[in-house]
Amino acid sequence: MKRLEGKVILVTGATGSIGRATAIRLAQEGAKLALADRASSSTDELVTEIAQTGAGTPEIFHYDALDAVSCRALVADVVQAYGRLDGLCNIAGAYAKTSATDVGDDDWNTLLQINLNSTFTLTREAIPHLQKSGGNVVSTSSLAALNGLAYATAYASAKAALIAMTKSLAAEYASCGVRVNVICPGGIRSEMSAIPPVPGADPELIMRRSKLKGFADGLGDPKDIAAGFAYLLSDDARFVSGAVLVIDGAQGLI
Ligand SMILES: NC(=O)c1ccc[n+]([C@@H]2O[C@H](COP(=O)([O-])OP(=O)(O)OC[C@H]3O[C@@H](n4cnc5c(N)ncnc54)[C@H](O)[C@@H]3O)[C@@H](O)[C@H]2O)c1
Repeated sequence: MKRLEGKVILVTGATGSIGRATAIRLAQEGAKLALADRASSSTDELVTEIAQTGAGTPEIFHYDALDAVSCRALVADVVQAYGRLDGLCNIAGAYAKTSATDVGDDDWNTLLQINLNSTFTLTREAIPHLQKSGGNVVSTSSLAALNGLAYATAYASAKAALIAMTKSLAAEYASCGVRVNVICPGGIRSEMSAIPPVPGADPELIMRRSKLKGFADGLGDPKDIAAGFAYLLSDDARFVSGAVLVIDGAQGLI
């Protein structure tokens, strides 16, 4: 399916597990990609893989989600390079497994900056361009936002705020033709879910497992989340805004 033919889409966290799978899926659907991540991330393999889909060679943009100036510049740089913006995928995020009493003020602020503040800054800067193109935003929250998550209070709090942010923006910009949605992944096989638990923590509190047939380890694949991004960005979701798409194999229910 080529539901995103010619659409210019900015993907943050593009070299991470979910970002990478999403970038490849969007390229397969015909999108022209602007891939954003930290300067330290390696992009060569991903660029080659995307070029092989026939969607053209994506441009790489370095930025730091901890720096609001850098977030603002990212959107401006992408629009300057491509002349337009049709979609923003907010995927960059960070997670720390720490007991709440060990979370210092700086740790709290860092996790809120990466997961919440930078997502707002990027979205705010993108909206005027999305109004012109009739484009849309898809952000990445978490099952942790809906159910809470032990040893991840700051992360879960930031991800919960992303849901309120999404619904508020969806209501405010509906009449401008800008759709805003959010995906809540459950536990997905990735570098993030492989972070070791804090010593003495109950593993069942840290990672929920799906009992869905066909998922031996109870975790989803990054491709399962990528499919959600492709759907929400496409015109198949033209009547979907302010939605919270949970993709978790019923982990949150079991
Ligand atoms: N993996 C899971 O089980 C899971 C579950 C729920 C939600 N999520 C969310 O999905 C998204 C992607 O997660 P993932 O599993 O691919 O994790 P990942 O660690 O593989 O990817 C995270 C990405 O964010 C980028 N990033 C981190 N700090 C940054 C900074 N300061 N500036 C710019 N980029 C930065 C990293 O470079 C990386 O590309 C995150 O928002 C995460 O919270 C993941």
